[in-house]
Amino acid sequence: MKKFFVIGNPISHSLSPELHNFWLKKNNINAVYEKKKLEETELKNFIDNLRNDKIHGINVTVPFKNKVIKYLDKLSLEVEKTDSVNTIYKNGNEIIGHNTDVAGFELGLRHSKISVLHKSALILGAGGVVPSIVYSLLGMGCKKIFLSNRTIEKAENIKKKFNEIEILKWGEIPDFDIVINATSVGLKGDSLDLEFNVKDKIFYDVIYNPKETQFLIKAKQKGNKIENGRFMFVYQANQSFSIWNNVIPKIDDEVLKILG
Ligand code: ATR
Repeated sequence: MKKFFVIGNPISHSLSPELHNFWLKKNNINAVYEKKKLEETELKNFIDNLRNDKIHGINVTVPFKNKVIKYLDKLSLEVEKTDSVNTIYKNGNEIIGHNTDVAGFELGLRHSKISVLHKSALILGAGGVVPSIVYSLLGMGCKKIFLSNRTIEKAENIKKKFNEIEILKWGEIPDFDIVINATSVGLKGDSLDLEFNVKDKIFYDVIYNPKETQFLIKAKQKGNKIENGRFMFVYQANQSFSIWNNVIPKIDDEVLKILG
């Protein structure tokens, strides 16, 4: 039986096992997907299980998306650009690091019929997922990307990788078509200390639990289109699954129900 894992710390909240095990069963694949909490010192040995064929694939989440890189043999272009790995697999004798958050963000937007071609985007936050979102937006032809983070140094670090983005001070709101909350604010019902007086724009929150953060609730009240990060999450999983199992699993209402 094949074995897959998602590793992180903490990991208890992860819905990846529910999603992957659902798809494994649907596709009659004899495998199991589990979550595993690791310490940083355990990463190398854990990845070696892939070398020895004891396990068959690993998803990586916070705080290890960057830290696993040094234990891998080859990196995809998406990883080179974002310094972030969320999917590990073996190809021949090599251990490959890939990042399906990039495709996940794009496929999620496309599923929701949101186009960013020639549009301008404002990203709030500078955490682990932001380089993937920036790279994805650039790939989709977004013409202008503003980035704003409470701690400006972290935003400036991201600009080192993507020189075309423009850093704004926290609280400075430019003219934009889509604003993306990539901060952790909203996870606990809390609200960003920013005021948006706009309508007919797109408000996107990477958070999908709760389904509607204060950021989205207020935006909807003002007449904006809103979208949460559930499709990004489902599509990054869908892409990992297809790499490991050579099957593109179906995304339907039954699957979305798993996310609550
Ligand atoms: P990740 O787990 O994705 O790496 P993180 O590094 O904890 O996440 O980042 C969380 C993001 O939410 C950061 O951009 C953080 O801003 P700082 O870099 O200034 O810490 C942002 N964030 C958290 N609480 C916030 C708050 N109350 N107001 C504004 N931004 C906040």
